[in-house]
Amino acid sequence: MFEIYLAGERNIVLCRADLIEKLNMPSTKSNFFSRFHITEGFVEYELYNVGIGSINDYETWKYNRQFFDQSMLTPNFNDQAVEWVNELCKEMESCWNNLGENHELNLSKWMHRFTNEIIFKVTTGVKNNNVNSYYNFIVECDNNTLKGIKGEPVDESEKFVKSVETYIGGLIYLTIFNNFMLHYVPIIRGKWKGFMKNKKYLFDKLHKVIKERKIEIENTPLDQPLRHDMMTSYITANTPRDINTVKRVGADILRPATDNEIRGMILDSMLGGTETVANLFCFIVYYLGRYPEVKQRVLRELDEVLGKDLTKPVTYRDLDELQYCEAFINEVNRHCPVSFWMTRLNAERDSIGGYDWPEATLFQMLYSSIMKHKNYWTDPEKFDPDRFYKVEESDKYLLEKQKAKNVFPMFGGGIRICPGKKLAMIELKCLMVYFRKYDIEMADINAPLKLKSDFINHVDECIVKVKPRKF
Ligand code: HEM
Repeated sequence: MFEIYLAGERNIVLCRADLIEKLNMPSTKSNFFSRFHITEGFVEYELYNVGIGSINDYETWKYNRQFFDQSMLTPNFNDQAVEWVNELCKEMESCWNNLGENHELNLSKWMHRFTNEIIFKVTTGVKNNNVNSYYNFIVECDNNTLKGIKGEPVDESEKFVKSVETYIGGLIYLTIFNNFMLHYVPIIRGKWKGFMKNKKYLFDKLHKVIKERKIEIENTPLDQPLRHDMMTSYITANTPRDINTVKRVGADILRPATDNEIRGMILDSMLGGTETVANLFCFIVYYLGRYPEVKQRVLRELDEVLGKDLTKPVTYRDLDELQYCEAFINEVNRHCPVSFWMTRLNAERDSIGGYDWPEATLFQMLYSSIMKHKNYWTDPEKFDPDRFYKVEESDKYLLEKQKAKNVFPMFGGGIRICPGKKLAMIELKCLMVYFRKYDIEMADINAPLKLKSDFINHVDECIVKVKPRKF
């Protein structure tokens, strides 16, 4: 445990699993429900009292969170999500094939478009065609270069993807700079202005989508069923067209959601579900390249579970059987966690690690340190998915076998645990199915990952080549 000051604010950094146990307690009565101090920056960025990620009021969070849980944690969702992810994987495959095996691809960019498209579809029911648009954009750029035309073509879909990325980029500013710095310090002020301009563009887009869906719902006769997606569920909540079968209780919960609330929830899905999965898949490709013997076991499992027919669509049940692949994903995230820290505030005075802390102390749970701690992990620096795979059946990983609590908080913990964890695994495993047919390899196999760290660990550039698999 140690303390640091970020923009004048005291952060207590916790690096052991026992220290975070209280913070990640799965109880609605937790003293550590809140994540951030809501500053003027949060209000200006319109993250105050909407969505779920930055909410500090339990009742508001409960009302909003139910929509995530209702739509993402049901068994029906699994099959639907696998179908959509499979379809998009096919589309991306045909784009890559058209570009040819010698075309170097920035996997980070492709993956951002992929995850943006999936999460937008899951949340709004609308297909925004980011992957295909990106392909057309690249082709147009290549043609322009051949013709000697300067500048990039304008593409609405590209603008949308970039606006989500830019919005996410603004989050670290409002977290580490106070209101004075955001508005008066040169350079920071200019950047903040840019983030605010981008926010307007993004919010206008999202409000347009909500408005269009509302009109569609109004024009759908009462005897015709409405499509099931999260946005329709928000729009119809507690109205005569309510599509949710699980009924809500509580006075505040029994009211329809406002447009700003709906926008906040769509935005939170995009913020939580785009960068995380996109980056983790880039890390996966990198680690597969680094550990050929692990890659062989991944391929063996894919071949065994999915069989020889490469055209057969993958089902949720297949994905569930990919246990070594899952162990591999976990090990990649343990070594290079996308989400490597998370914060909590205590509502009342409390004790942690033998010290008494005043209310509203900001605690940083340093997951990256817990995930490499020698007390919980055997030979922690070693990369070996076996520490997550059938550990009960051997004595190779005795520490892992004890399954100590809170030592692998890949998706956080407690009642605020990530609602997208199932979707994330579906996406990652479906993407790994590519390896049955293709070698996706880093263009420079010896180059290290160009990691950047702020809220999460991410890579802006991950250049790969996609070639038919060598058997
Ligand atoms: C590999 C992928 C992902 C990782 C590693 C990840 C990780 C996390 C972590 C660590 C948290 C904080 C939990 C806590 O405070 O205890 C979180 C929260 C959250 N995640 Fe994810 N996530 C991933 C994918 C997704 C996806 C696909 C979605 C799409 C819905 C999503 C949406 C959210 C939301 C909305 C929250 C806030 C939950 C709340 O405050 O109640 N995440 N995620």
